[in-house]
Amino acid sequence: MAMKIGILTSGGDCAGLNAVIYAFEKAITAIDPKVDIYGILGGYTGLINREYKLLKHEDFSNIFNTGGTILGSSRQPYKKLIQAEGAHKVASMKENYHKMDLDALIILGGQGTHKTAALLSSEGLNVIALPKTIDNDLWGTDFTFGFHSAVNVATECIDRIQTTAASHRRAMIVEIMGNKVGWLTLYAGIGGGADIILIPEIPYDINKVIKAVESVKKSKGYCIIAAAEGAMDNEEATLTKKERYQKRGERGEVTASNRIAKAIEEKLNIETRVVVPGHIQRGGAPSPYDRVLCSQVGAYAAKLAIERKYGVTVALNGDKITSNKLDDIAGKTKVVPPKHELIKAAKDIGISFGE
Ligand code: F6P
Repeated sequence: MAMKIGILTSGGDCAGLNAVIYAFEKAITAIDPKVDIYGILGGYTGLINREYKLLKHEDFSNIFNTGGTILGSSRQPYKKLIQAEGAHKVASMKENYHKMDLDALIILGGQGTHKTAALLSSEGLNVIALPKTIDNDLWGTDFTFGFHSAVNVATECIDRIQTTAASHRRAMIVEIMGNKVGWLTLYAGIGGGADIILIPEIPYDINKVIKAVESVKKSKGYCIIAAAEGAMDNEEATLTKKERYQKRGERGEVTASNRIAKAIEEKLNIETRVVVPGHIQRGGAPSPYDRVLCSQVGAYAAKLAIERKYGVTVALNGDKITSNKLDDIAGKTKVVPPKHELIKAAKDIGISFGE
């Protein structure tokens, strides 16, 4: 009997999802041309509602270098799934997996997706997950696919902002995605030649930020700050997430960027602008790096499926593709260690972290 495999993409989209879907199909049909691949539509929601289609070979052609996901995606917050109100959704996913008579389920997603993948695996479903996210915060893998594509976009944003900042002798804050972790801001900040990098893992002191802006402005005439969406000051760092959001809500702000801009204008009288590239960072074609990584992880997942190795997620470890047990990585966040080599290198070349 030919294997029946379901595949879904869940959580925020990013470049590379289609490349992985493409590579998986290529690799698995090369081993067993009879395998049937069912595309589950719209992430876990599609599994809950049994919305799927049998994918034909043509469905996979011409998708390798396209952005987004041919399967669609959605968020099904894990927290809600494990509460009483979510129990029927988990039951539906199990039931539909069995009704579809699947041998395995391939799940492409980030942190939240992996928690649910681990849950489904513990409920007896044969799950193989793949590491997706522009945040690069998944535990156990050096890089997630989508990350480097987003780094390229965010770096280009900073590059483009440099010229305007220089022409107008301004301070410019580029707010980069990453609510909990600063990997994207760190890479794009260094890559784009930012003067100051602010990430959630290193809470900033606004006075130090202002001092750094003043000194950079004096030496080169303008200043670029790469600030993560989740950047926070020393005081905010002492609060719980809920308290922080509440305080920000009272101030009418979502992130710290505008507050930082205001402080720079008030204290230094330097015209300051905030630029938010937002979801542009998730869009467009995957970068060459990601296309290569997607090919590798997609092919590896196909091998795992053929070997019936389940309950795992594919990972990059140095230059090797490997896998981790879902139970070992689900729920863990890979934050930027404040003593990370990249932070040291950034400091060595004069970048301030506002500490
Ligand atoms: O997890 C990826 C991510 O792009 C984060 O960097 C960002 O905080 C979040 O998703 C935005 O989510 P949404 O698309 O739901 O606005």
